[in-house]
Amino acid sequence: MTPVHAIEITDAEGTSRSCRKLGRATEYVHKIAFRVAINYIVGMLSIVTLISGRGSNFEAIVKTAQKEQWPVKFAGVIANHSAAKGLDFARSQGIPALVVEHKEHASREAFDAALIEQIDALGADLVVLAGFMRILTPGFIRHFEGRLVNIHPALLPAFPGLHTHERALEAGVKEHGATVHFVTEGIDEGPIICQASVPVLNGDDPATLAARVLTAEHQIYPRAVKWFLDGRLRIEGNQVKLQPPESQFFKL
Ligand code: GRF
Repeated sequence: MTPVHAIEITDAEGTSRSCRKLGRATEYVHKIAFRVAINYIVGMLSIVTLISGRGSNFEAIVKTAQKEQWPVKFAGVIANHSAAKGLDFARSQGIPALVVEHKEHASREAFDAALIEQIDALGADLVVLAGFMRILTPGFIRHFEGRLVNIHPALLPAFPGLHTHERALEAGVKEHGATVHFVTEGIDEGPIICQASVPVLNGDDPATLAARVLTAEHQIYPRAVKWFLDGRLRIEGNQVKLQPPESQFFKL
């Protein structure tokens, strides 16, 4: 039987913020209580993944779950356009592959509302952003607070946003990497779950560096997801504590 899953949100930054957070955390706990109870009975948590492209991170998570026999249900993959390659892998694994076309929605809010509806219908305990190239609205992020994770191809807080490999090379950094983090309203700013670094080598171009970082991504994203599923992550302010403690940084 899977252990009861819990995310604890605490805040050390003053009373009013604490109260607001506590209110939201309580609301969140109520919202997921029913699902947690059901999942406890069936012994399995559900993941819904959002992709826009090839979906190699999604594939790495699914393959690791299969190899390590995680008690998890991949409830669905949703892409924002039908050409996303990762949909093929999902179908090959019998995972529901859905498309919510962003172009068919008049506004970001309308698109996100449609996404929320689909994700909730699939019954997600955890929403994994894996190369999902849309900016999410605050309403979407609040809806999935504490159970929405992303991977970013840089060592945050360095190089948030796009074109991280080009920017790392331009800046002349000697170390680059990837970060898995909870998603909050600031772009690429949420509490960091784990990071992996890789060296920047002489002669690297954006493609060679991206390939090295991607290998690291495929190692840390499955690990971070497993920590979540095992109920080992606790958000404290802007930090993520892993319990029992082990390194959340990997030098690869
Ligand atoms: C990855 O580099 C990820 O860090 C970024 O988008 C890319 C997605 O790759 N957010 P894939 O679709 O998982 O292969």
